[in-house]
Amino acid sequence: MILTWCLVLLALTSTTLSSNPGVKVRLTNKGLEYGRQLGIASIQQKLKTVEIPDFSGKARVVIGEVKYSLSNMRIVNVGLPRSAIDLVPGTGVKLTIGDAFISMKGNWRVKYLRDSGSFDLNVNGLTITTSIAVKSDETGRPAVSIVSCAASVGSVKVKFHGGASWLYNLFSKYVDKALRNALQKQICPLVNKAVEDLNTELKTLNVLAKVDKYAEIEYSMVSSPEVSKSSIDLSLKGEFYNIGKHQEPPFSPTAISLPPQTDKMLYIALSAFTPNSAGFVYNKAGVLSLYITDDMVPKASPFRLNTKTFGVFIPQIAKQFPGLMMKLLLKTEESPKVSFEPKNATLQTSATMTAYAIQPNGTLSPLFVLNVESSVTAHLFLSGMNIAGSLSLNKMKLTLGTSYVGQFQVGTLDTIFQMVLKMVVIPIVNVQLAKGYPLPALGKIQLVNPQLQILKDYMLIGTDVQLTG
Ligand SMILES: *[C@@H]1O[C@H](CO)[C@@H](O)[C@H](O)[C@H]1NC(C)=O
Ligand SMILES: *[C@@H]1O[C@H](CO)[C@@H](O)[C@H](O)[C@H]1NC(C)=O
Repeated sequence: MILTWCLVLLALTSTTLSSNPGVKVRLTNKGLEYGRQLGIASIQQKLKTVEIPDFSGKARVVIGEVKYSLSNMRIVNVGLPRSAIDLVPGTGVKLTIGDAFISMKGNWRVKYLRDSGSFDLNVNGLTITTSIAVKSDETGRPAVSIVSCAASVGSVKVKFHGGASWLYNLFSKYVDKALRNALQKQICPLVNKAVEDLNTELKTLNVLAKVDKYAEIEYSMVSSPEVSKSSIDLSLKGEFYNIGKHQEPPFSPTAISLPPQTDKMLYIALSAFTPNSAGFVYNKAGVLSLYITDDMVPKASPFRLNTKTFGVFIPQIAKQFPGLMMKLLLKTEESPKVSFEPKNATLQTSATMTAYAIQPNGTLSPLFVLNVESSVTAHLFLSGMNIAGSLSLNKMKLTLGTSYVGQFQVGTLDTIFQMVLKMVVIPIVNVQLAKGYPLPALGKIQLVNPQLQILKDYMLIGTDVQLTG
C-alpha cells in the first residue's frame, strides 16, 4: 500500500516536473530580418488595395463658401523605403516604418457650380510604429497580437486639374488637412488586418504530424515564447505518441540550453527525448521485431540459416535437428535508447534473439534464446523537411537467455550474429530510417543550407529559410 502511494506520488511529481521541451526553436535577428522583408512586402500589397471612401467638405474661397466632393480615389503607388524590426525582450517585436509615401488619383466636383476635374494626391512622411506580442495560443501554436500602433502622416498635398482648378488650388490646404486625418485613421486598422492574416496563417501550422500508421509527433508549444535581445525561442513538446492513444513515457526531457550561435536564421534543437519517445511508442506498439529467414541472408554469405551451419558451433543442433532450415526472431525487450554526445549519436538496444528450427511440416522448434545488447552509431542527416538516419554496428554483446539444446558456449556465435545484424537487420532498419521523420511544421518554409551538429544531449540544426509558394 505504501509502495503504491510512493509510486503514485512519484508519477505525479514526474508529470508536473516534465515541463522541459523536447525541442527548442530559435529565431535569430537574421531570421527576423527576413520576416521583416516578407512583412513589409505584405503591408505594401495591403496598402495598395486600400479603398478610400468618397469625401466631401466645405471651404471658403474668394467667391464665398463652396461645397466640394472627392470621389473615385485610388492608390497608384506606395513606397516603404525605410523599416526596421526590433526584438522587445519579454514581449515580442516592434515594427517601425518611416518615410513612407502614397500617391493617389481621384476626381473632384464642386456642387452648384457644376464644375469638375481630376486631382493628384501625394502623402509623404508616413510613419507607422507598432508593437506586436508573440504568444502561444490555447492549441500550442504561436499567435501574434497588436499591443500598440501609432500612425502619423507628415504631409498631404493635393493638386486639382481641370475646371476652375486655379481657384480650388487656393483652398487645397483645407482639403490636405481633412484628408490627412482621414488617412491617419485608416492605417492602424490596416496593420491590424495584416497581423490578423498572419495569425490565420499561424493557426494552420501542423502541431501534430502523422509519421506512419503507429506514430504521430506533437510539436505544440509547452510554454510561451521567450523573447530576448537577440532571439525568440520557442519551446516545443517534440514528442512521439501512439496514434490516438497518448501515453507518457517513463522519462522526460533534459533541459536544452542553446549555444550562442546567431549566423543562421533559425536553429532547431532536438533533444534525445524526441527519438527516445519514438522508441517508446514503437516498442509499445510491438513493431520493433523482425523475423529473419535464410532468403534475407545475402547469397554470397558462407553462413546459412540452417542447422548445418549452427551445428558447427553447437553440435547438439546438427544431431537433434539434422538438415533443417532455421528462422530467427529478433525482438526489442526495452525501448531503444538514443544518446547524444558531441559529434556522436548512439543507439543502445536490448533485444532477444530466438532461434528456431523449421520442421518439414512447418512447426517451429525453439533452439535457444539469446539476449542481445547492441550499440550502434547513428549517422543523422536532413532529407528535405525530414530528419533521417542510417545506423552502423558499434558493439554487440550476447548472453544466453534459455537453451532448449543443452549447454553451449555463447561466444562461438558472436561472428554469425554480428553478420546477421550487419547484413540483414541494419540494412532493413536503414531503409526505414532513410524515409525520415518530419521536423516541426514551419508552414510554407524551405530550409536553405541547413547544417546538423550533434552536441551534448541534443542535435542542432542551424539553417536559413525561404518562403515557398
Ligand atoms: C560514441 O559514444 C558511445 C557511447 O556513448 C561510445 O561507445 C562510442 O565509442 C562513441 N563513438 C565515438 C566515435 O566517439
Ligand atoms: C510436426 O513435426 C514435428 C516433428 O516431426 C512433430 O513433433 C509435430 O507434432 C508436428 N506437428 C504437426 C502439427 O503435425
